[in-house]
Amino acid sequence: MPNIPKHIAIIMDGNGRWAATNGLPRAEGHRRGAERIEAIIEACKNRGIKYITLYAFSEENWMRPGVEVIALMHLLRHFLVSKRQGMVERGVRFRAIGDIARLPSELQQDIKETERMTASCRDITMVVALSYGGRHEICRACNSLLAKGVKDATPELFAAELDTNGMPDPDLLIRTSGEYRISNFLLWQLAYAELYFTETLWPDFDDKALDLAIESYATRERRFGMISEQVVAQGEE
Ligand code: FPP
Repeated sequence: MPNIPKHIAIIMDGNGRWAATNGLPRAEGHRRGAERIEAIIEACKNRGIKYITLYAFSEENWMRPGVEVIALMHLLRHFLVSKRQGMVERGVRFRAIGDIARLPSELQQDIKETERMTASCRDITMVVALSYGGRHEICRACNSLLAKGVKDATPELFAAELDTNGMPDPDLLIRTSGEYRISNFLLWQLAYAELYFTETLWPDFDDKALDLAIESYATRERRFGMISEQVVAQGEE
């Protein structure tokens, strides 16, 4: 397929509505949502995508009912512990972004261990945003530059302080479940991303749904502020 994005970011929305539609508890919606992840990572890898960033838990999600927060933390731990060996075997490097220090200490340990185990995997990088908020990430980056005494910040210096340091910006953002918002996700990094929204609920998001998003991306002309002729000329260089 031509014009494959290098980095896809996904807001995995609709687990709760999927559960309600199927007469199941919300936690079951999250469990089914987590089950989709492995297949989508594999599908991305097979299509040549090198990075996938998943919004798994926002800093605003701490405000959800305690039982749901606990269920999500358990699910995340279970996911990491049960999937990390498979990640190593399939060349999936794991990385977490967000305010990791706010997570339960056992989950922090699981994250560290999964990052360590998968550090040399090179086929695809799976980034999971946990306790993540774009505005706070930007504030952390500002504070870090101030602490270093930087007086003249540039986009490059700033990006190096973000949690996503060293990664390319997402080319394509997918949000499932028919919501048309960014919800404090990767505010800096999405500056030039193509946006794709689908009605499909995350637990129903499969390879076919992924291909529709990639096909839509392939039809977009990314001008980065230039005019069409310049973009065409650049492609011919
Ligand atoms: C949004 O759906 C989804 C979340 C807040 C959690 C996403 C988590 C997972 C898919 C599973 C855990 C992730 C990993 C990496 C193992 P919602 O609950 O807001 O759905 P609703 O809007 O229909 O209520």
